[in-house]
Amino acid sequence: SRKVFFDTDPGCDDAVMLAMALGHDAIDVVGLSTVCGNTTIENTTRNAHAILGLGGYDVPVSRGCGRPLVDDLTTAEWIHGENGLHGDIPDADGNTRDIHGADAIVEAAHEYGDELTIAAVGPLPNLAIALAKEPRLPDLVDDIYLMGGAAMTTGNVTPMAEANFHNDPAAASRVLQDATTRMVGLDVTNHATVSPEFIEEFRTADGIRGTVAQWLDYRPDSGTYPLADAPAIHDAAVVADIIDETVLTFEEYYLEVDTTGGPCHGAVICDEYGTTDNEPNSRVAVDIDVDRYREVLEAGVRAYAAE
Ligand code: BDR
Ligand code: CA
Repeated sequence: SRKVFFDTDPGCDDAVMLAMALGHDAIDVVGLSTVCGNTTIENTTRNAHAILGLGGYDVPVSRGCGRPLVDDLTTAEWIHGENGLHGDIPDADGNTRDIHGADAIVEAAHEYGDELTIAAVGPLPNLAIALAKEPRLPDLVDDIYLMGGAAMTTGNVTPMAEANFHNDPAAASRVLQDATTRMVGLDVTNHATVSPEFIEEFRTADGIRGTVAQWLDYRPDSGTYPLADAPAIHDAAVVADIIDETVLTFEEYYLEVDTTGGPCHGAVICDEYGTTDNEPNSRVAVDIDVDRYREVLEAGVRAYAAE
């Protein structure tokens, strides 16, 4: 199985992703760092413990950044619920480690080396700081996946920007400069929906499945949102590809993140047609096998929710 360290801001789709990763045999979750994003760092850290506790998993949790590197914090309780997770939050009594999330990423890279995959599925201040503290990080580990950005499609929190990159454009920019990553953005994750039948099966069940159903079927409390009819479990697309590399198709492109504070703040500029002389600096997910994605997601989440 592949050793994976998650940097995450749970968040309903983060919660489904963690359930899937914890449950699936092909992944060994070696640690988590939390970050502000969908909600405050207090809530995302509590939620991480709640998700682990509900499934009966013991994974070390380190609390990370409570605000972006440069910008002010914006949160998204209107999508993910007042506490960052819809429904009642299970009680959790897990301990948070006495080491910052950014340091926990560096520590895991040294401990597991090229056996380790890092999956960062929230805003990126922890990973940006980890790269500043340990510039060799990309060479130490096997792979770094990001859920964030939108290379060839439009945004979800502003017309041009995706939420994780828009939340901390300085960090996203830094990460793309400091590491060759796999960027899994809205280009593919807008299609990473689950079937209504799967949601219905969980919704009508008691116990763990009933709780997970509320994470699967997250919707905005008010207002409009492009994904309201079929919630996309964005972060789970990363885990599906770590489990089965045929799920996503990647192409290499030169990317930058706009940090200029205008209407494209936090947007990805992708040199799709090679109009600059810049060499590709990223692998960008451009296609998703939705059927295979759903199979892998369902297998992992079912195993997590088995009582
Ligand atoms: C991303 O932003 C958050 O709302 C989700 O958890 C996901 O990581 C999607 O734009
Ligand atoms: Ca997330």
